[in-house]
Amino acid sequence: MTNKKRRVLIHSALASAIAAIGLRDFNAEARNPVRGSSGDAPSAIDVHIELRAAEEDIAIRPGKKTRVWRYRSKLVSGDADALEPSLGGYLGPVIRVRRGQRVRIDLINELPESTIIHWHGLHVPEAMDGHPRFAIEPGARYVYVFTVVNRAGSYWFHPHPHGRTGKQVYFGLSGMFLVSDDEEAALNLPSGVHDIPLVVQDRTFDADNQFVYPSANMAGGRPENTGNRGMMGGMMGGDGMMGGKNNNGMRMRGMGQMMARMMGVLGDRILVNGQADARLSLEGRSYRLRLLNASNSRMYKLAWDDGSPLTVIGTDGGLLERPLQRTYIMLAPAERVDLWVDFSRWPAGTELTLQSLAFEGGMVMGGMMGGTPLPDGAQFPVLKVRVAQGATNAASLPQRLVELPPPNPRLAVNFNSPKVFNLTMGMMVWGINGRSFDMHGATALETVRLGTHEIWEFRNDAQSGMMGPMAHSMHVHGLQFRVLGRSVSGDYAVAHDSVKAGYLDEGWKDTVLVMPGERVRILLRFADYPGLFLYHCHMLEHEDSGLMRNYLVKA
Ligand code: C2O
Ligand code: CU
Repeated sequence: MTNKKRRVLIHSALASAIAAIGLRDFNAEARNPVRGSSGDAPSAIDVHIELRAAEEDIAIRPGKKTRVWRYRSKLVSGDADALEPSLGGYLGPVIRVRRGQRVRIDLINELPESTIIHWHGLHVPEAMDGHPRFAIEPGARYVYVFTVVNRAGSYWFHPHPHGRTGKQVYFGLSGMFLVSDDEEAALNLPSGVHDIPLVVQDRTFDADNQFVYPSANMAGGRPENTGNRGMMGGMMGGDGMMGGKNNNGMRMRGMGQMMARMMGVLGDRILVNGQADARLSLEGRSYRLRLLNASNSRMYKLAWDDGSPLTVIGTDGGLLERPLQRTYIMLAPAERVDLWVDFSRWPAGTELTLQSLAFEGGMVMGGMMGGTPLPDGAQFPVLKVRVAQGATNAASLPQRLVELPPPNPRLAVNFNSPKVFNLTMGMMVWGINGRSFDMHGATALETVRLGTHEIWEFRNDAQSGMMGPMAHSMHVHGLQFRVLGRSVSGDYAVAHDSVKAGYLDEGWKDTVLVMPGERVRILLRFADYPGLFLYHCHMLEHEDSGLMRNYLVKA
């Protein structure tokens, strides 16, 4: 597509977005900042934040700084505690809002390529959801205005441009969006410094401390902006994700990169809140730990190294009805889990490790391409915690948290015939029911009626010529769903059995792990907002290579 045509397309998408929600007033206000005079603004803005997506060099490891892409943030108006500028390292801010607040967020693109932000897990109108057709060019601004209607919970945000989400997240772009509400406040859960977001990611560094991400050029994808020599140099010239160390020569390196671009990129260093070898020193009292897996493709099987159970109080869409105990939890890309941990149960001075345990059913790439030092499904440490000396303060957690009735599948208009979505692999491209991403298209199966419930079933047992199914992390935009159940075909019982006790299918979800051979049924409700939304695998290289489709909500 020529540049001119693309620009026209973007403009018309923007124009319809503006018409749909009356964004024009806010954009006019942004250009010509006259406050509080906008006649048909639905209501006043409670929190206004500016996010600049920009390149930056930061110190992550000793030696040379690492070139990253990050969200620089500024609170334009609203409570001072609405914005914590950084989660640590290259990561973006923590945005904290209350349910019911109206927020305005300006994305300003200072990157050398187009971008857009998706508010992962939030229920927002079409034009606010960050579909790739709304991506803005370098230098442009996108104004988001929406009311936060979600339950209290740990949501997040990240880029969503077509074909380059994996790369942009890998280079550092993401942040958290924490919502609170009265129901949650009544529980007096640990707050302030005792409420800690923990963003888990994996990265590979080259000898110059630069992130190594396989280049789109090698994958036959769309050409990258080559103006950015530093970063492209790092990506092309480093050890190469898969092939570099064991297979010399451009050809194998290219093959390895191409496979990684499609099968998923795994880093060999685990970072928590942007820090390598992360350690926390915590008091002997209760904490709320909000874990987010913001890795591109890696899943975790999280457990304490001493075998102590984990107490789970929330999932993607907020608090559970009651705390659940698990010996380990599975956390696939984009999933969140809220833990309540009473560190007074360990004597002061104890060193604990939150680790990822070994499991079956991970990516086989490592073996195929000559190995990554940290294969999928290996055991490794994630985070070290030291229980500080000093007074301990034992705490208790209410045995009932919030109202959360079990899902009622009878609400679905297709109760008797769930829609089937097969996760498929064609000729080197992923797809759903054999179709890969199409910017504006949605099939009849992908069309739903506003105000209805449906049951969907993701099937990950389609046989694809060259290899069996691999794990996927299925995400639906614009809503929270409930998991109705899952099954596994006998051939894949080993992988399923090695993870099943770690599923948290009880709560509200926006992302669900579908292991090889599994079928997962979910109940969705399409409320409030008509339009074109996405559903896709959140293993970002799968998403970028076709495992993404639109669904259309018709009024
Ligand atoms: Cu968090 Cu479409 O993704
Ligand atoms: Cu996938």
